[in-house]
Amino acid sequence: MGGFVTAAYIGASILFILSLGGLSNQETARRGNVYGIAGMAIAILATLASDQVSGIGWIILAMVIGGAIGVYFAVKVQMTQMPELVAMMHSFVGLAAVMVGYASYLDPELKLIGAEKTVHDVEVYLGVLIGAATFSGSLIAFGKLRGIVASKPLLLPGRHWLNLSALILCVIFGSSFVGGGGSDLEIMAGTAEHSMWPLILMTLIALAFGVHMVMAIGGADMPVVVSMLNSYSGWAAAAAGFMLSNDLLIVVGALVGSSGAILSYIMCRAMNRKFVNVILGGFGSTTSTSSAGQEEQGETTSTSVEDVADLLSNANSVVIVPGYGMAVSHAQHPVSEITQALRNKGINVRFAIHPVAGRMPGHMNVLLAEAKVPYDLVLEMDEINDDLPETDVVLVIGANDTVNPSAAEDPGSPIAGMPVIVVWKATTVVVFKRSMATGYSGVENPLFFKDNTRMLFGDARESVDGIFKNL
Ligand code: TAP
Repeated sequence: MGGFVTAAYIGASILFILSLGGLSNQETARRGNVYGIAGMAIAILATLASDQVSGIGWIILAMVIGGAIGVYFAVKVQMTQMPELVAMMHSFVGLAAVMVGYASYLDPELKLIGAEKTVHDVEVYLGVLIGAATFSGSLIAFGKLRGIVASKPLLLPGRHWLNLSALILCVIFGSSFVGGGGSDLEIMAGTAEHSMWPLILMTLIALAFGVHMVMAIGGADMPVVVSMLNSYSGWAAAAAGFMLSNDLLIVVGALVGSSGAILSYIMCRAMNRKFVNVILGGFGSTTSTSSAGQEEQGETTSTSVEDVADLLSNANSVVIVPGYGMAVSHAQHPVSEITQALRNKGINVRFAIHPVAGRMPGHMNVLLAEAKVPYDLVLEMDEINDDLPETDVVLVIGANDTVNPSAAEDPGSPIAGMPVIVVWKATTVVVFKRSMATGYSGVENPLFFKDNTRMLFGDARESVDGIFKNL
């Protein structure tokens, strides 16, 4: 049986790697998902068949209940709530690592001594530490994405000292925890006392640290937080794999941990931020010193669906910049129809995707793929920014922070330095939104007041439908 399980685990690991490879490209993403599902099915079946598992009836019962809850939420969740669901799932991985850590430490049948016990204690301690911080941090991220917790950073006085003290305390508790819990003889006789206090105190500190870390991070940095927690949840799973001596869990945890870390790096680059600065918090605060209030920025010019339809019909090149508002209003289908209609008239239509548009990595790509927009029309920010000065019309559909000129032009802006799509360089820009409200980062947007900008107020879907009828 052991050989069969090992072979199945190797097969599942290969499928997971193929899955990650597939997910890196839209055209192969569907295949990547199938590999992932197949890998996970093999992993579960092989684990159930292995001699590591007993009480199979209970496990199946738990899987049926957990699976039913999972299916219910997956069917019910709106595309716009997907990031919240992902944050919630990360918190479950963290909680599972904490529980596995405690259970594995208290397991009366696990009588480890000497070096083996030291290694196991380190695994338990690190697993619980990463798991607890991931759990509480992900819950706060969930709250911030859902809007229950304010996206403004909470900057406690002396917060770096607080974090440093937490780290030092964790090291001190760790040194008393590892190797504690009685002599080898007591362990073998089953009379050893468990030294639970250092573990419990560290868990409380790690939970507080997770809350504090994510509370200190401002709205515009949330993409990095989401991918960072994704990475943490992978390391927490890998730690659980060490505790349970399950090789596949170690491999899968490491894959998730490292791909999450690479994603965090990509997100940081996309926002021109250093990872350490993000973790230290503060970016995206609304306490901007130089971004002027609306009244100081001049007048906006409104437009109508008829005028925009005219503008589009007379254009040679059009670029569409989608953002979170397109997701909320489900405007991707009529946007796809407009694209087709304009292309039929011989107009060059392309999409410009900012790496952090929406509320999760790849959010816009998923929506446009769902609406069957051809992949070759969908370009990354870096691929299209240079073409914008030669573009006749840009449609900014529910995007805001990702097209904010103050990031490029105002060094005092809270989002200064973040690369943005330079839509204002086009001949005419039409901004679809419902009000003059700010985007997720809470920073005012001078784009709305530029001479070549037209504001099309209203729900994005209704506006796009209206334009389509007028075309
Ligand atoms: P945002 O800056 O969030 O702006 C969205 C805009 O959509 C708002 O200005 C809103 O204005 C408009 N809107 C909302 N509902 C609408 C509707 N039904 N019809 C028309 N417009 C609507 O969007 P963005 O440019 O995509 O930027 C994303 C932001 O989220 C960035 O700050 C990013 O850092 C952050 N973030 C991203 C992620 C990831 S991983 N992508 C994760 C967390 C946070 P009105 O209310 O006036 O309509």
